[in-house]
Amino acid sequence: MTGTFRKIVAVLDGQTITPPPIWLMRQAGRYLPEYRETRAKAGGFLDLCYTPDFAVEVTHQPIRRYGFDAAILFSDILVIPDALDRNVRFVQGEGPRMDPIDVTAIEALKPDTVSAHLRPVMETVSRLRRELPAETTLLGFCGAPWTVATYMIAGRGTPDQAPARLFAYREPKAFETLLSFLAEVSAEYLIEQIDAGADAVQIFDSWAGVLGEKEFEEYAIKPVARIIEIVRARRPGAKIIAFAKGAGMNLKTYRQKTKADAIGLDWSVPLDFAADLQKDGPVQGNLDPMRVVAGGQALTDGIDAILEKLGNGPLIFNLGHGITPEANPDHVTELVERVRSFGRG
Ligand code: CP3
Repeated sequence: MTGTFRKIVAVLDGQTITPPPIWLMRQAGRYLPEYRETRAKAGGFLDLCYTPDFAVEVTHQPIRRYGFDAAILFSDILVIPDALDRNVRFVQGEGPRMDPIDVTAIEALKPDTVSAHLRPVMETVSRLRRELPAETTLLGFCGAPWTVATYMIAGRGTPDQAPARLFAYREPKAFETLLSFLAEVSAEYLIEQIDAGADAVQIFDSWAGVLGEKEFEEYAIKPVARIIEIVRARRPGAKIIAFAKGAGMNLKTYRQKTKADAIGLDWSVPLDFAADLQKDGPVQGNLDPMRVVAGGQALTDGIDAILEKLGNGPLIFNLGHGITPEANPDHVTELVERVRSFGRG
């Protein structure tokens, strides 16, 4: 429906909405009993991602329960390496695994299979846009090339991404090839999501914080700027949020150079600095997910501090990273109610 007012899209256009719209990273997930039930029915995690009936259902779950202002497509950033035949598995209790990529395999990467492999994801997106409440923003997403590359190189998650950092120093040319390749493929993937019905997209660079100064420029800023350049060249007006976790004081140039409409802030970003960043454009964040686990005073203090510093400018209220499985669903109800009471006396 054209002409429908979607608050998150309006914030991405630079408007201030009071109270600010809210959604949570990883809002569909293991803290919800209804998610765990669907997850058990689906079998493997990737089956959940690639079966539109299941993926549509779990995307709806947090919207039904909390009425968030955005639904985020249920999928994973690692469907890209999966589509590239890297033998991606999700081992229960251990996290993702795939075959570690080497120079020869990087040079042999081809984008040909990606689009067909991810067709079920596009069916999920188009069904969601038809079924969701008209005022709910539908978000698509992808991983940033650096973060996806860290998993492709190590073949798993690691605490500090040492394998990818080392690979980048030892094999700079192959590493550049990998990042450029991922940027092209990811841009294509985002364009397909937009065409299928996504109102805006988010690029997740969860591991941006482990990069040195020069590497941040080369591996975090450049490939994300390239994705945004390609998407905007082909879909002018596309709305894009970029979340570079741990980027700290680099966030100012990150926004300028990537040209993202909004930047996501993790909970370590000081609120005075966040207010400064908000003068350049919309921000999203940045409640510590542990405050949602703790509940009580820790939760209300954290919410109030953000609303006080950022609530009178363009803000999308969110966590500073994904909600964790230990979070109490009732705390999320309190969170949403408190944010929605802001500015109402
Ligand atoms: O936000 C949402 O509700 C949409 C779905 C979504 C998932 N993953 C579902 C998921 C999104 C946007 C992601 C992004 C993602 N995936 C990121 C970037 C954001 C971040 O959290 O840093 C990363 C790094 C991944 C890779 C990934 N996927 C890891 C490391 C893991 C294992 C760790 C874990 O939390 O279990 C996953 C699995 C995953 N992706 C789950 C969910 C709900 C849990 C799997 C399960 O149900 O068994």
